[in-house]
Amino acid sequence: MVRGLLPESANKKIEKLTMDNVFIPLVSSAEIEPKYNRAWKYIIERIGHDAKGDYLEFGVSHGSSLSCMHRVLKELKLNDVRLFGFDSFEGMPESAANEDGGVWKPGQFASPIEFTRKLLTDRGVDWSRTFLIKGWFNETLTPETVKKHSITKASVIMIDCDIYSSSKAALTFCVPLIKDLAIVFFDDWKDDKDFGEYKAFEEFLKENPQFESEPFGDYAPTGKIFVVSKKAK
Ligand SMILES: C[S@@+](CC[C@H](N)C(=O)[O-])C[C@H]1O[C@@H](n2cnc3c(N)ncnc32)[C@H](O)[C@@H]1O
Repeated sequence: MVRGLLPESANKKIEKLTMDNVFIPLVSSAEIEPKYNRAWKYIIERIGHDAKGDYLEFGVSHGSSLSCMHRVLKELKLNDVRLFGFDSFEGMPESAANEDGGVWKPGQFASPIEFTRKLLTDRGVDWSRTFLIKGWFNETLTPETVKKHSITKASVIMIDCDIYSSSKAALTFCVPLIKDLAIVFFDDWKDDKDFGEYKAFEEFLKENPQFESEPFGDYAPTGKIFVVSKKAK
């Protein structure tokens, strides 16, 4: 979500709407859905329908991007793709105060899991293939979670947890799950390799030389997309 990168006037407006308990989506469906659609078509073209994996999202909050993905999968009749959403549902962690210039605040974007579930139910989400995993990433991004849900492969990954350390934890968790290739969405990309999601991605690529990446487009206002593939041996 881009709030931290928006001008102060826009932040104030969002603050007010949040205080008034008016629900505002944190991502633009008009922007993101065509990109999700293109991502799945690309995956299937490259590796085939039967080889595709699941959708993993890091940073769910009210579930806007998760419901966009659900809608796209339904449209494309990709009914066997599962959706996993990881979030504390208590907002940003304490460490946000000391990262990325303090742009994001501890507790920001908190959305009780029951509220998010209701919003997703209202938007027709199929709970037989959608899983919300509640907790701080250092407790949930574990081999036990992978085993519990039999996650073997991630094909589309959404990094929308904003700060550097959370993005890094999410990408590290995905390393063994990127089998051939995955498309990785970054929702809060700032063109500064020492900041947030960009910094985490740079480190991930450096620490995992088995992967290479190529740009796969962007979306307004701060989304950036990459194909991450295993290098040929
Ligand atoms: C901008 S919001 C996600 C917006 C969401 N994708 C949407 O479309 O509504 C970022 C989320 O990341 C979560 N988050 C960030 N770091 C986290 C961490 N270390 N552990 C668990 N959740 C985290 C926050 O709780 C917050 O809900």
